[in-house]
Amino acid sequence: MTIETIMQKLKLELDAVRYQHSVNVMETSELLARHYGADLNKARLAGILHDCGKNYKGDKAREYIQKIGYEADRVELIQTRLLHGVIGEHLAKTVYEVTDTEVLNAIHWHTTGRPGMTLLEKIIYCADYIEPLRNFQGIENSRKSAFEDLDRCVVDCADSTIRYIVDKGVLLHGKTVETRNYSLMLLKKKIS
Ligand SMILES: [Fe+2]
Ligand SMILES: [Fe+2]
Repeated sequence: MTIETIMQKLKLELDAVRYQHSVNVMETSELLARHYGADLNKARLAGILHDCGKNYKGDKAREYIQKIGYEADRVELIQTRLLHGVIGEHLAKTVYEVTDTEVLNAIHWHTTGRPGMTLLEKIIYCADYIEPLRNFQGIENSRKSAFEDLDRCVVDCADSTIRYIVDKGVLLHGKTVETRNYSLMLLKKKIS
């Protein structure tokens, strides 16, 4: 399937704001990929599709992961929005005919991140936060750090997620904390 066909199909699935966000993440991912020498097509593909599972929440999400045999943890079962990466990966494979493992993994992990992310995974994770529609405290720093040091940007984005989740008073996924700590350790090693 060409990226144009994927975009047409996705536009019918997502609401207008979510679709525009996806296009923005695709474009920001491409800029980052160009900057860091990653594969541009993979970055565009993972960027446009990263939120393709976003319509699944609550029981709909729980049913979907049961159907595909994904064993969700307790936090994911309660905070079902966390599952849209896993569901998105499956939709990318089955509906949008994506076969590239790197692209599928980038979609899978974009929500929480993970320790030891690949370059493409970091690009999608960061692009999701810094695309032009986003606005949060400290975003200008994150936009800058994304093009200076991706690990710095991952830490900034994880910090901002943690702050947001704590302020909201909902469950924080352990992987977000692991991502943050791992990337911070990477940074420290670079510094000392
Ligand atoms: Fe997402
Ligand atoms: Fe997103």
